[in-house]
Amino acid sequence: MNITFDGSARIFKLDTPRTSYIMGIVSEEGFLGHAYYGKKISDDDVTYLMRIFEAPFTPEKNERDRLSFYDCFPFEYPTHGVGDFRESALRLEDENGHRANKLTYKSHSIINGKKKLPGLPATFGTEKDSMTLEITMEDKEAKIEVVLSYSVFEGIDAIARSAKVINRSGKTLKLTKAMSTSLDMDNRDFDKITLFGSWAREKAIDRTAVGYGVQGTCSKRGVSSAQHHPFICLLEKNADYNKGEVYGQDLVYSGNYKTVIERSQFDSVRMMTGINPEDFSWTLNNNEEFNTPEAILVYSAEGLGGMSRAFHDLYREHLIRGYYRDKKRPILINNWEATYFNFNEKKLIDIADCASKLGIEMLVMDDGWFGNRFDDNRALGDWDVNEEKLKGGLKYLVDEVNKRGMKFGIWFEPEMICPDSDLYRAHPDWAIQVNGRKPGLARNQMVLDFTREDVTDYIYNKVKTVLNSANIEYVKWDMNRPLADIGSAELPAERMGEFYHRYTLGVYKLQERLITDFPKLLLENCASGGGRFDAGMLYYSPQIWASDDTDAVERLRIQEGNELVFPLSAMGAHISDCPNHCVGRTTPFKTRGHVALAGTFGYELDVTRIPEEDRNMIPEQVRMYHKFNDIVRAGDYYRLASYSENGCFDSWMSVAKDKTEALVTAVNVMKRPNVKSRNVKLFGLDPDKKYRLLNEDGTDYTSGMGEEGSAKVLTGKTLMNAGIQICETWGDFQSILIHVKQA
Ligand code: GLA
Repeated sequence: MNITFDGSARIFKLDTPRTSYIMGIVSEEGFLGHAYYGKKISDDDVTYLMRIFEAPFTPEKNERDRLSFYDCFPFEYPTHGVGDFRESALRLEDENGHRANKLTYKSHSIINGKKKLPGLPATFGTEKDSMTLEITMEDKEAKIEVVLSYSVFEGIDAIARSAKVINRSGKTLKLTKAMSTSLDMDNRDFDKITLFGSWAREKAIDRTAVGYGVQGTCSKRGVSSAQHHPFICLLEKNADYNKGEVYGQDLVYSGNYKTVIERSQFDSVRMMTGINPEDFSWTLNNNEEFNTPEAILVYSAEGLGGMSRAFHDLYREHLIRGYYRDKKRPILINNWEATYFNFNEKKLIDIADCASKLGIEMLVMDDGWFGNRFDDNRALGDWDVNEEKLKGGLKYLVDEVNKRGMKFGIWFEPEMICPDSDLYRAHPDWAIQVNGRKPGLARNQMVLDFTREDVTDYIYNKVKTVLNSANIEYVKWDMNRPLADIGSAELPAERMGEFYHRYTLGVYKLQERLITDFPKLLLENCASGGGRFDAGMLYYSPQIWASDDTDAVERLRIQEGNELVFPLSAMGAHISDCPNHCVGRTTPFKTRGHVALAGTFGYELDVTRIPEEDRNMIPEQVRMYHKFNDIVRAGDYYRLASYSENGCFDSWMSVAKDKTEALVTAVNVMKRPNVKSRNVKLFGLDPDKKYRLLNEDGTDYTSGMGEEGSAKVLTGKTLMNAGIQICETWGDFQSILIHVKQA
């Protein structure tokens, strides 16, 4: 990693292990242009790539056509209103309603380390393992400054970018757009990938050609959402999981966002991400500043897989924090699909009794333990234990669970309030709503006004009191409806455009308080499944529930989409009962286990009532988890085959960082008649190391017989070039694990 500035050529160069990112200060005025992002190069002066010698790229020599310059120059942070008619990154309104800004270079600094982003989740780094470049741009006429920040990290091919807008005008300004990053390039017949979905169908991969004009995704739901995700990438037509050039961007933010790709008249592409400008404005008084969320940029010359591995490394090492960050997570059993609202302390203790004997390590009590919450129509906000349901109180229950050698976890939905709740009856103005209009409900609930400190303080103290009342070691923080009918009893009219962002900051602040006060707490975020599974939430919780859909086959698509950006260590994945609650499908218990092993691993079923045959498999699954989780959690991830692309077969592998072992998972989703075994090439091994292929019970995979020691020995080169054969299995939804172990 390195960041340099060539003062005579006026060029910034950021180097990561295998990539270079180059910008130049252009013309006497000092425009900042983007020259290059791609495979590492040793020259820094590649400003010819910005076409600065071609008209109209020389504004001072071509005043009569200045607008042409604005409209095609590859601006590093494009502004609104002066003649760049592509998507802008910045739009401000002054007291006269004028919205034209021009940014030119003022100064810069290069430091070791990385500063915090106030109030926002962001990657972190030390003076040893990260470097940051801050370029201060200014609008001399409007008297505003924009500080563009770029950080690089030792050993990781990713760049973190954000922008800070500072008002020096002496007047009040209104910020109406401030994207986190913008990247201009020549189009190379790119495709783009975005992630789309719905409840129980999160993060499906959508690959389409980049057409002319503006395209992208956004959220207006107040959360990053299950419908789209703040990730976008450009990739060459021939790029796939293992080859080709890919440019990925992911936003470290959990609220309304927008990703944009614009293909212009001259066949350039502009790629940006940031807070969604729709429904956004921010009043900036003199000398006030606004920090955008951080965006992560990854360039990979090794296809989508290379991009994923860079995101995974960055998020594991520089975003996820806390006690559990590098630890195996306790195997949990959650009672949601097991009981829904129909439980009492006896039922939960029965589950704990049985689960603990099978090796399960933590019981999580889901929705329904508080207030008058016997169904999902009422009581959100009433965070007092319902002692009718839980006789003896929470402490008794937790102690009983602890006595059985298990940890205890609990569910909250802190951001919500039901109209039928004591909290709403006492504080109707605490709910988001527009005066005089009946608010639209979702799941019979409204959203609390988390822009208000009195509201968040109250909720936090309720949560804290519950957590202090017993030995609670895990919290599932849920969020089950989008925001609508935006109105806050406290925000003045001229600041109502700040609501969504302030709400998101309110959530962040509360989660920060929670993990500060309870440093050993394992926090798992959730939003109707994966409705807020984003890099912002990962800063607070090392794991996030990926989807309410626990069907092993549906999960293949959902997990593939997740793994594109997020490390497997972050992905909440459980084995549930069949027929599956979302799709009615019955899959083998073993396959459900193999699929859940790709995530945090746990159970979501009534272990006292599942078929004995399934129950008997649990100790072996627990053993598999303990045996393989280090590889899965901390290793390098490679996708070998995609069921969402081919419709019948899925396969992926994790390789330990020291390349001494790997775990291959293969799922034959649909059985076809009269087919032979399937050849799959492995990746990421040491070509010269020798390996054995073993079944999960330690027997030889290649012959199907014999013990570990007698298994055939093959080099990494053979396994990666010639591949291995995945046997055909009988029946649908069958899966195998192959342990690749250094001989
Ligand atoms: C959401 C979550 C589920 C469960 C329920 C409880 O749907 O995603 O896992 O916690 O809420 O109401």
